[in-house]
Amino acid sequence: MIEKLTANASNWQKNSINKIAPALLENWLRDYYFTTEIDISGSGVEDFSLAEIRKHVGITQQELDNLVFHDSPSLGCMGLRQAIARNCGSTNPERVMATNGSSEAIFLVMNALLQPGDKVIVLDPSYHSLIHIAESIGCQIERWHLRFEQQFVPNIEELKSLVTPDTRMVIVNFPHNPTGVSVSVETQKEIIDIVASVEAYLVWDAAFAELTHTNPPLPDASLLYDKAISTGTLSKAYGLPGLRVGWCLASTEVLERCVQLRDYTTLALSPLVELIAQRVIQKADNLLNIRLPQIRTNLEIVAEWVDQNKEFVKWVRPQGGVTTFLYFPDIPDIETFCHYLVNSCGVLVVPGTCFYHPNYVRLGFGGSTVKLKEGLSRISTLLKNSNISSIQNSKCD
Ligand SMILES: Cc1ncc(COP(=O)(O)O)c(C=O)c1O
Repeated sequence: MIEKLTANASNWQKNSINKIAPALLENWLRDYYFTTEIDISGSGVEDFSLAEIRKHVGITQQELDNLVFHDSPSLGCMGLRQAIARNCGSTNPERVMATNGSSEAIFLVMNALLQPGDKVIVLDPSYHSLIHIAESIGCQIERWHLRFEQQFVPNIEELKSLVTPDTRMVIVNFPHNPTGVSVSVETQKEIIDIVASVEAYLVWDAAFAELTHTNPPLPDASLLYDKAISTGTLSKAYGLPGLRVGWCLASTEVLERCVQLRDYTTLALSPLVELIAQRVIQKADNLLNIRLPQIRTNLEIVAEWVDQNKEFVKWVRPQGGVTTFLYFPDIPDIETFCHYLVNSCGVLVVPGTCFYHPNYVRLGFGGSTVKLKEGLSRISTLLKNSNISSIQNSKCD
């Protein structure tokens, strides 16, 4: 199966119908997400139901009934934009666009600002949108590497050596998916200064901004540099991936360009979605105060598990987000291992090949504590019972 994901990735340009590389992570999850008993693959906290959301943020039946399904404004309704701005520490809702997930924001921003041949610097590994969209436009991609041997710490000297006067855009994501690494406020400022020194755009994917384990959340990058664009989402820290709400903060000129593209795609958000999203953001702490303690408990469980299995697995303890990129140096074929985990052990994780890094597995610890413990226990049983190079005859319970 390893051929399936990677061959798929390297052959896409030969197929004239495809204009963009396949999103390997989505291909993997699509196959298994809906049917696997224990899902410890995801990058968000445990999802909420509508009843829970209504209770925690106070949406009444009357408010829902009063809603009229008018078209919404292209940048989102003003109440939602104000709530997002305030939540990001901004006083200016005019610099906010509400989108269908942050995926839409990323897609619009890249397409609005990039042209073939532009030089774009992006973290490696990265969430697929952050590389593939620029690549599909025909940009020249340069990779800023996060290395396990360096605890995934971003090397500022390396960024300095990559940035040149013809750099058009630098794309980062901190806290980072999949490694969980983040940066300090001082390093954030250094990154901004380097990008600003050549007047390039900076895209700061802040999908996990609220999910920090060591330091307080970072300031919103778009407030620190006028060519910075930040993106955020309700899919990760708020347990609402199915609501499909994200946003981007950028200059009004950039947002205007995005609207021109949006007129050909999703046009706007649903007013029903906007109503829920606005209230969630206004009462953000009511949800975060439930999920943050849960993910901190889960992180300790993963830490203990790694310690108990250190002959097989190594890690860098995450500073933010709810994913960790576990290193399995002795597993020769990570996809076979992950397929086996799904099909014979009922446990879903993500093979590192989805991020072009074999030997790693992305584990998500944002969900139910009971399921996390059970999933990890099945993985250790498999590791202990198997000859890792021929996993087929092994047992996971
Ligand atoms: C780093 C990062 N950015 C953006 C997204 C897109 O999420 P959404 O469109 O649900 O906001 C994801 C989803 O996993 C992600 O990991």
